[in-house]
Amino acid sequence: MSGHGTPIPMSSSACGPLTGQADVPGDKSISHRSIILGAMAIGETKVTGLLEGEDVLDTAKAMRAFGAEVTRDEDGTWHIHGVGVGGFAEPENVIDCGNSGTGVRLIMGCMATSPITATFTGDASLNKRPMARVTDPIALFGAQSVGRSGGRLPMTIVGAENPVPVRYVVPVPSAQVKSAVLLAGLNAPGETVVIEKEATRDHTERMLAGFGAQITTEVTDEGRVITLTGRPELKPQTIIVPRDPSSAAFPVCAAIITPGSDVLVPNIGLNPTRAGLFYTLQDMGADLTFENMREEGGEPVADLRAKFSPDLKGIEVPPERAASMIDEYPILSVVAAYAHGDTVMRGVKELRVKESDRIEAMASGLRLNGVEVEDGPDWWIVKGRGHGNVPGGATCASHLDHRIAMSFLVMGMASQNPVSVDDGGPIATSFPIFEGLMADLGAKIERS
Ligand code: S3P
Repeated sequence: MSGHGTPIPMSSSACGPLTGQADVPGDKSISHRSIILGAMAIGETKVTGLLEGEDVLDTAKAMRAFGAEVTRDEDGTWHIHGVGVGGFAEPENVIDCGNSGTGVRLIMGCMATSPITATFTGDASLNKRPMARVTDPIALFGAQSVGRSGGRLPMTIVGAENPVPVRYVVPVPSAQVKSAVLLAGLNAPGETVVIEKEATRDHTERMLAGFGAQITTEVTDEGRVITLTGRPELKPQTIIVPRDPSSAAFPVCAAIITPGSDVLVPNIGLNPTRAGLFYTLQDMGADLTFENMREEGGEPVADLRAKFSPDLKGIEVPPERAASMIDEYPILSVVAAYAHGDTVMRGVKELRVKESDRIEAMASGLRLNGVEVEDGPDWWIVKGRGHGNVPGGATCASHLDHRIAMSFLVMGMASQNPVSVDDGGPIATSFPIFEGLMADLGAKIERS
């Protein structure tokens, strides 16, 4: 598990054109949900294309601890024999969710309305992150929690014996919080209503409907009003996990900043609640096209073709787009360093409570590598230097954050001097094949 292992220093240096095809792994959000919803269905759910990163493997372990049977065939097909809504057993030991905020928050939600007690912990990054955003709403269902100061892990949740349904307005734009409340609502009688003012990724809603729950979303003046009828019998599914747009972001952005590149990243989901980065790159003048646009499993999918783009321009990223690209700001800030002019990113306070404080982590690493950055509580501005003018040469701290590590390694592919990270180990949480995949395209990443 990342955060417990020996650091793996890595560095990346300027390379020739990146070319070829990048087959990125399965979507992290959908992978977590496939295992969790499979564990809450009755019967066998089959999953192919699952992201086998540490985060998802920790969720699989957790679901076993709650009584589901989760196995993997040699060919990579996963089988989940669920215990049904309300059927969770009490885990015998502490649940370690490693680095994963999605894992711990969704699992806290789905056990909160069962009469069992569970204790959760994580790595040094996860144990710093705020959990009150989940323990507050699950308390409304009747669950109790006790954790460390500041609502941090390790934390014990005592599930509600007689849960009541809730109506909850999510106070921060967070798909994890929305999902935790919906998953808790599964084992409450009556209707649970979740209202979000800004649309966040909607995989939980789509997948709950796929598993046979009664769930509706209405767009009103209050925002998106999601209504779930409790105590459904979830029916097992066969799931083909689409590839992760958040992982696709790395080869796409690497190609855009590296001279002569032309990379195809096939089968990427363009769910509008996830695809904001790609539209932002196009707004910056990137040569990024969507080929072979189609629908798969009710979601828009395309093959992305990204080519070297020497004339990128800085832009003001529309703040209303933030939720749809919240995980992509670190890599966007790297592209912004290679653009001409300022890239202004506002309305992004949530970046401060991700696997690391992502504004701080990126701003300090960019500065060390010769790029000017201004920042405030919920905004930052990267002062682009234009292609060929990013000095590089420094070692950045990855703060146990996979996306920080990958972003700086991409930066080194086009900078004047190599860029290093103190620990590339966390990359295994979401993109275990990153090094090999980038090397096959022509990147020079070394373990130092
Ligand atoms: C996720 C939601 C987002 C995102 C995370 C995955 C999910 O977090 O950053 O990587 O799968 O629901 P927040 O809900 O904290 O915005």
